Amino acid sequence: MTEIDPRELRNALGAFATGVTIVTTIANDERSPGQGQKIPIAMTANSFSSVSLDPPLILWSLARNAQSFKAFDEAEHFAVHILHSGQKGLSGICATKNADKFAEISWHPGINGIPVFDDYNTCFECQVENKFDGGDHLIILGRVIKFDNKERETHSTPLVFYQGQYKNIA
Ligand SMILES: Cc1cc2nc3c(=O)[nH]c(=O)nc-3n(C[C@H](O)[C@H](O)[C@H](O)COP(=O)(O)O)c2cc1C
Repeated sequence: MTEIDPRELRNALGAFATGVTIVTTIANDERSPGQGQKIPIAMTANSFSSVSLDPPLILWSLARNAQSFKAFDEAEHFAVHILHSGQKGLSGICATKNADKFAEISWHPGINGIPVFDDYNTCFECQVENKFDGGDHLIILGRVIKFDNKERETHSTPLVFYQGQYKNIA
């Protein structure tokens, strides 16, 4: 067996151009345990993938070493926002540890109080259907309960990630 160099593997996987999403949920505030305070959670993810139309299923994978791992692992609902090309800055903020992620985001509560942004190309509100071991990631399979596709109205081009960089498509 040839040795797999993780850095080379990462570069090779970067050859697959993806869209960019921000996944959100609502979680108990660990800073005030037992007080029932809830806080919004968000993280940038490009592991999003469509899975099934009937039933309507999507998936994404969550790094086990993410700060927001516990929040997403315990969540029963989450929202996936597919970003447009004007949301590069937001993607950067939600990919930064300890950032004040919701300072610049305008949002409203969706199903079970999960944060739904006011701005996106497409949004899927999901219920967790199943979770699978994915090595250093946890694969989260979600059932789409509700979705909104603004892309067709706004004609906004998607934000794209390729070889470790953001790209805009014309
Ligand atoms: C374009 C892009 C895609 C990413 N995709 C994922 C992903 O699919 N899963 C993941 O766990 N982290 C992904 N990350 C890294 C997380 O966004 C980053 O680790 C973030 O800090 C996680 O939030 P947290 O530190 O609050 O847990 C991605 C980052 C970028 C810039």
